[in-house]
Amino acid sequence: MPDLICSLVNLPPIQPLMKRINERGIHLRRANPWEWTPLRQFIVTNFSEKWADETSVAMARQPVSCFVATHEKKIIGFADYECTRRGYFGPTGVLEFHRGSGVGTALLIASLIGLRDMGYTYAIIGGAGPVDFYRKTVGAIVIPFDEGRGIYRLEDDPAFTS
Ligand SMILES: CC(C)(COP(=O)(O)OP(=O)(O)OC[C@H]1O[C@@H](n2cnc3c(N)ncnc32)[C@H](O)[C@@H]1OP(=O)(O)O)[C@@H](O)C(=O)NCCC(=O)NCCS
Repeated sequence: MPDLICSLVNLPPIQPLMKRINERGIHLRRANPWEWTPLRQFIVTNFSEKWADETSVAMARQPVSCFVATHEKKIIGFADYECTRRGYFGPTGVLEFHRGSGVGTALLIASLIGLRDMGYTYAIIGGAGPVDFYRKTVGAIVIPFDEGRGIYRLEDDPAFTS
């Protein structure tokens, strides 16, 4: 799975995305520290323990760098930034039932605004699965490195091996 890069300079406005999901009774906001236990359970149950571990970094930051989407007060999606590495977006996931309604895009744009507010002009999407989703929503492009140049599955820290 490749790493992607996307510009933060001309992000689409978030208000129309918020309006679209609000019309479906879905809300988007930063996660609160007291929600960590249910959020962790949500991620482990629907995605993976590894994604929950990555999200633990977002939850320990101030402000928390995880956004959640809720429906009837229950978490239905999440997205993190600045947690796996500096300048990184992800992980992210939306419950299958709620996919295709703009929730993933709203979570993505909220997080990218978070990165832009930190001073970044580009974001990295590390080990991206749905490349077409990122291409379509924010014009992300694949970083043209050979497989194995990303951070996942490294056995030695490159900082100590050269
Ligand atoms: C990727 C994901 C977060 C997208 O959430 P979503 O709420 O379905 O996204 P949206 O409804 O905002 O979709 C926006 C557009 O991207 C498209 N899209 C969504 N998921 C896609 C995918 N996996 N591949 C290609 N296109 C996709 C949608 O069809 C939509 O296109 P449209 O505007 O023409 O209708 C969701 O599919 C998911 O949770 N996937 C499993 C976890 C995952 O892969 N996370 C990413 C890890 S890098």
